[in-house]
Amino acid sequence: MTAMVWTEDKLKNASDTLEGKGAEDAVRWAVENFCPDLALACSFGAEDVALVDMLAKINSKVKIFYLDTDLLFKETYEVRDKLIKKYGIAPIRHSPALTLQEQAKIYGDKLWAVNPDLCCKIRKIDPLIAALKGLKCWITGIRREQAATRANARVVEWDNKFSLVKVNPLVKWTKKDVWNYIYKNDVPYNVLHDKGYPSIGCEPCTRPVKPGEDTRSGRWTGFQKTECGLHK
Ligand code: ADX
Repeated sequence: MTAMVWTEDKLKNASDTLEGKGAEDAVRWAVENFCPDLALACSFGAEDVALVDMLAKINSKVKIFYLDTDLLFKETYEVRDKLIKKYGIAPIRHSPALTLQEQAKIYGDKLWAVNPDLCCKIRKIDPLIAALKGLKCWITGIRREQAATRANARVVEWDNKFSLVKVNPLVKWTKKDVWNYIYKNDVPYNVLHDKGYPSIGCEPCTRPVKPGEDTRSGRWTGFQKTECGLHK
């Protein structure tokens, strides 16, 4: 059997079809078309725990990886461990080439406070490139309403930056949809979400937000920065 060649047109057609269907259909489509060269990028945030639950019900063999920047909250590791226990998954850890000490020695202490773009590159983007190596498709938890930069995200798209197919099953979901799914399916979630953190990244660069504030305003507060570079 010859491998499917995923032209822009074919991806667009698939995306258009999936746009009218549910999130589980997008996950199933990704599994059916790309397994085993497929992985879920999991930050253990609300969207991603919902995706872990869906994947576990569709195909529990699909790879799940997380980018461990060495700066994650302890609560993030706690939810990782709860998911491992509940679903029997084995999330793959990808870490930066430099330890925090090595980074401090080369670039100075607390690089994130001086040059967050460089810090994100070293601790998230370069490890992501390594994590995606050999894969044909990755699944992410981005949603259109999260940010202007994500408003045009499609269910299925060609990821120009990392050169593989990207599937975003939750693009259409609202925050309420995410939480309905979590409660209905009794999915373990990061307890920081109950403490004013709608979006959770690295500890030094994530703050709680006040009710009514933009959900991503707690990320990189004080900088003109809204994306770490994982999603263009
Ligand atoms: S970020 O780019 O600002 O960090 P956000 O936290 O909104 O992104 O997460 C969006 C999606 O990016 C997640 O649903 C997940 O697919 C992926 N992602 C973000 N952080 C990580 C991480 N540390 N490990 C793996 N995937 C991640």
